[in-house]
Amino acid sequence: MSTSLALYGGKPAVSHPPTYSWPPITESDIALVTQLLQRKELSYYGREGEVQELEDAFKSYFNVRYTLAMSSGTAALHSAFFGLGLGPGDEVLAPTFTFLSTVMPIFVVNALPILVDAETDTGNIDPVDIERRITSGTKALVITHMQGHACHMPAIMDLVRKYRLRLIEDCSHAHGASCQGQLLGTFGDASVFSLQGSKLVAAGQGGILLTNDQEIYERATLLGHFKVRAMEEVTSEKYRRFSGTGYGLNYRMHPLAAGLAKEQFKRLDTYLKGRNDNLLYLSSRLKGIPGITPPVVRDYVTRHAWFTYRPFFQPDELGGLSLQTYLKALQAEGVPIQKAASQPLHVEPLFQVEDDHSYTYGRTTPGISTPARQRYQQGDFPQAEQYARSTCTLPPFTEPMPQVMDQFAEAFSKVAEQAHRLQEREKT
Ligand SMILES: Cc1ncc(COP(=O)(O)O)c(C=O)c1O
Repeated sequence: MSTSLALYGGKPAVSHPPTYSWPPITESDIALVTQLLQRKELSYYGREGEVQELEDAFKSYFNVRYTLAMSSGTAALHSAFFGLGLGPGDEVLAPTFTFLSTVMPIFVVNALPILVDAETDTGNIDPVDIERRITSGTKALVITHMQGHACHMPAIMDLVRKYRLRLIEDCSHAHGASCQGQLLGTFGDASVFSLQGSKLVAAGQGGILLTNDQEIYERATLLGHFKVRAMEEVTSEKYRRFSGTGYGLNYRMHPLAAGLAKEQFKRLDTYLKGRNDNLLYLSSRLKGIPGITPPVVRDYVTRHAWFTYRPFFQPDELGGLSLQTYLKALQAEGVPIQKAASQPLHVEPLFQVEDDHSYTYGRTTPGISTPARQRYQQGDFPQAEQYARSTCTLPPFTEPMPQVMDQFAEAFSKVAEQAHRLQEREKT
């Protein structure tokens, strides 16, 4: 029989609850940023310095022709949609369950996002629902490898070939993750990685676009990297005359951010090993404990990136215990578990209210009467809603800590064994 629950004054199962803070900052990170400050290396106009080094590092890791560092992942996504030439009249299939930046820039190019349901076990875009929503207007598909678990790339690439879709991968949770041995970010026409502070390669703020397609690269360069960089890099007959002005935005990355990201990127494989060692071990320990099911890892995943760890709460296995009480009991034991907060996009007001054209950017092309957005309602994507409802989240502990994972597992067992006590108290 386990000891009394920490919630009721017993000894917590986790002796020293770990704190999670990201990213790890080393002496070499500090030295590099300090040197840049001392040299007053604070902006670049061309492809140079820390930006160039970061882009070259991504280029060789992913073996792609072009990389373009940006001020954010959102800017990189906008540049990808623009780079592909998507615009009025084009439908872009996109996951309802993703971070908003995967979808919102589609509006900025005046194309139409068509939301797609999620798989109930991974939270990733569902290939079956992708196919259902393809029309004669569908031009492209954007996918997000949620939490660093690869989307179902075998099925998705079949659809991309069958319907001649352009593919954009949002790899913001999935730096260095792979599917059947192939790195995520190398399947699409363009792929994007956010380098925001919580990401595996953290610049603080930043993003990067990868492509093998010269036209996508040149259009993305013109959109946000005018003058010197565009003049150096945009060489095609069609586009080079626009280098002097670009197409209107400044999406350049800050050198300090690029320097930090370059240092973090050197440690990516170590980070991934740490997360996989900890979290796959935790999953093996949680198997069979009532009340919780570890996150699913499909057999095509050859490397997971664990942006977060999302197990499923199973109240039926604990006699209908409420999630709130379950989480309170685990937190008292020292497990930093929470209800996953992210909701699918279709429940957001922007996707539910009448189209008022209040947010269209620029003029739409005459003769094209595509609505600016589709309206959805709660219940339209039941699988995404189910995934969002049933998942909890733990931070992706990256330093090796098998003993802590053991203690987490003990805490889950202890709470499951004494769920009846928690429930009795719930009733009083
Ligand atoms: C899946 C996904 N896509 C895109 C972004 C946007 O990146 P950024 O914050 O760098 O603009 C994020 C970031 O938080 C994200 O999680």
